[in-house]
Amino acid sequence: MNILVTGGAGYIGSHTIIELQNAGHVVTTVDNLSNSNQEALRRVEKITGKPIEFHQFAVQNRAKLEDLFSSHAFNAVIHFAGLKSVGESVAEPLQYYQNNIDSTLSLLDAMNRHGVKKFLFSSSATVYGTPEELPLKETSRVGIGITNPYGQTKYMIEQILKDTCVADESFECTLLRYFNPVGADPSGTIGEDPSDTPNNLLPYAAQVAVGKLKEVKVFGNDYDTVDGTGVRDYIHVVDLAKGHVAALNHTSQGANAYNLCTGKGTSVLELINAFSKAADREIPYVITDRRPGDVASCYASPAKANRELGWYAERTIEQACADSWRWQKGNPNGYN
Ligand code: NAD
Ligand code: WQD
Repeated sequence: MNILVTGGAGYIGSHTIIELQNAGHVVTTVDNLSNSNQEALRRVEKITGKPIEFHQFAVQNRAKLEDLFSSHAFNAVIHFAGLKSVGESVAEPLQYYQNNIDSTLSLLDAMNRHGVKKFLFSSSATVYGTPEELPLKETSRVGIGITNPYGQTKYMIEQILKDTCVADESFECTLLRYFNPVGADPSGTIGEDPSDTPNNLLPYAAQVAVGKLKEVKVFGNDYDTVDGTGVRDYIHVVDLAKGHVAALNHTSQGANAYNLCTGKGTSVLELINAFSKAADREIPYVITDRRPGDVASCYASPAKANRELGWYAERTIEQACADSWRWQKGNPNGYN
């Protein structure tokens, strides 16, 4: 298939392009490089030995999108492009609503005009807000207790896509709800490259391990969990990437949500411990206050994706830490 990937230079997009190209798909990507580096795409080309057609512009740019759709016959669109920092979204809500929602609307418009009927969307565990049950299922309640504008954009976009599918029965939408993506391509040449101090636990721990940061701040150890620290469903980014290929191969009607997750919860201290083993060094940490907006535990059942997409998360936390460490050690300053 001829696939348009938005946000392809980013963390998950770059790993997904590898799997798409390895599966024989032809990839065009649009990225404004607001949170990424074109070097990621060059390295993906080296890994797969296949070219990526790259266009640098913001997906909200309707004129450029129109040119692109007019000159290509896309079979499907995978929409990764979006801003994703929870804290920043609280400080800059309009930027988040504008960027994330308008980019999606522009894409849907272009797809509609050009008869492209298959759309895969990077949704998030955040749509479940405060989990009403664990493990979360696709049928669990969504939209209640979302504590930040970033999460709201994901929830709103899911609604927009569901409505679009109701209006056009030939439009097929897959809402891929990612849990906590971690790890890197085993080559160690591409990985997560936060432009600022990382917000997420694993990249933070990786920068502590490499000596760029002093210690991990563990946000609370008084939750009702195995050791009092927060529990999450960490999924290897290569497994996540393969989930997109599985979703592309699957034909369904309307809007369908899938949890891309492992079904297994891991605590903050367990993750620090696994990373410390992978890096063969101690990772200093201190216990601090809880982070506002955090929930104690968030993990989900992958049963629907297993059953309907034939997709399984196969890689362990240990592999994710080893792969992440290989990337971090070999590229202490990311792509720069
Ligand atoms: P990322 O920031 O590494 O990648 C996003 C890419 O989109 C970047 O390359 C950025 O430059 C680009 N981009 C942003 N806005 C754009 C725009 N308007 N036009 C063109 N390009 C634009 O993030 P990621 O971790 O790879 O996440 C990819 C998607 O998955 C995002 O939509 C994110 O919200 C979603 N998601 C991520 C996580 C996570 O923890 N990483 C979890 C759940 C969902
Ligand atoms: C994991 C655990 C923290 C950092 C976020 C978004 C979510 C999704 C994935 C996009 C929690 C603890 C963290 C640190 C810590 N993104 N922690 N010290 O919050 O589960 O999810 O990324 O859609 O929407 O909210 O991930 O990696 O920030 O935190 O103790 O320095 O690690 O409290 O228990 P989170 P995270």
